[in-house]
Amino acid sequence: MPQANKPLAVFITGASSGLGAALARHYGQRGAVLGLCGRRGEALERTAAGLNAHCFIAEVRDAGAMQAAAAEFIEKAGVPDIVIGCAGISVGALTEEADDLPVFQAVMDANVMGLVHTFHPFIAPMRQAGRGVLCGIASVAGVRGLPGGGAYSASKAAARVYLEALRLELKASGIRVVTVSPGYIETPMTRVNPYPMPFRMTAAAAAAKVARLIEKRRAESIIPWQMAVVAGFMRCMPRALYDRLFEKAPRKPRGLPT
Ligand SMILES: NC(=O)c1ccc[n+]([C@@H]2O[C@H](COP(=O)([O-])OP(=O)(O)OC[C@H]3O[C@@H](n4cnc5c(N)ncnc54)[C@H](OP(=O)(O)O)[C@@H]3O)[C@@H](O)[C@H]2O)c1
Repeated sequence: MPQANKPLAVFITGASSGLGAALARHYGQRGAVLGLCGRRGEALERTAAGLNAHCFIAEVRDAGAMQAAAAEFIEKAGVPDIVIGCAGISVGALTEEADDLPVFQAVMDANVMGLVHTFHPFIAPMRQAGRGVLCGIASVAGVRGLPGGGAYSASKAAARVYLEALRLELKASGIRVVTVSPGYIETPMTRVNPYPMPFRMTAAAAAAKVARLIEKRRAESIIPWQMAVVAGFMRCMPRALYDRLFEKAPRKPRGLPT
């Protein structure tokens, strides 16, 4: 995948924490030159320690900031081999609560528009190079609507379908689009979950799986495989049964997104 004699160049959003930070370590420890993006500079620097990394403090909801970060990374490291849109937020929100309306907006903006803003500036240079992988991190929560988590479920379902469209748009260009929908990962995002999290993965294990799927250019996957089986059942479960089983499912706490 990398150009001859050039290290792999990988740009990762959400690199200041959790899965994104684990992906940075995964690729960085294998010699890649990294572009690490997040809003918290100190946390980004912690991820970057000891790695060949350029840090970009940028907000994925801000298209201009993402364009500037991409341009600077390309100037420093060349057109990336891999761009991973991993930044995201997850918080409970209820449509009936006025306080939660901005929460819906923030979740949709970060989880859907954040991907669009991340990928946009890389597509023209990747198209010209005739290569590259754009990997979007969706979620198994996007398979069906989860009560109390409508914002997050909807954002991840939208992300998955958006990535599918992008995959087809770019098929002839040599750019591959890889969608990964993880189950539960041990990160700050899930630390607040007041319910059991079956088949939970460490961030390092999830990062290794994502990297393998990117290497295989797998169009769409759910990880781990046990969660893929559960998602398969959920997808084809009749609506009446789904409603009965999930109406009382434990809910992600409401709150304000960061
Ligand atoms: N943990 C899970 O069980 C799980 C399961 C399925 C899918 N996922 C998905 O995996 C991805 C990573 O989640 P995680 O578990 O690693 O969560 P995390 O530890 O909370 O990390 C989230 C990352 O996203 C960045 N981020 C959030 N909003 C941003 C914004 N507006 N602009 C720029 N960066 C932003 C954060 O950086 P700053 O705060 O520094 O900006 C942080 O680096 C997310 O897309 C999440 O939805 C997670």
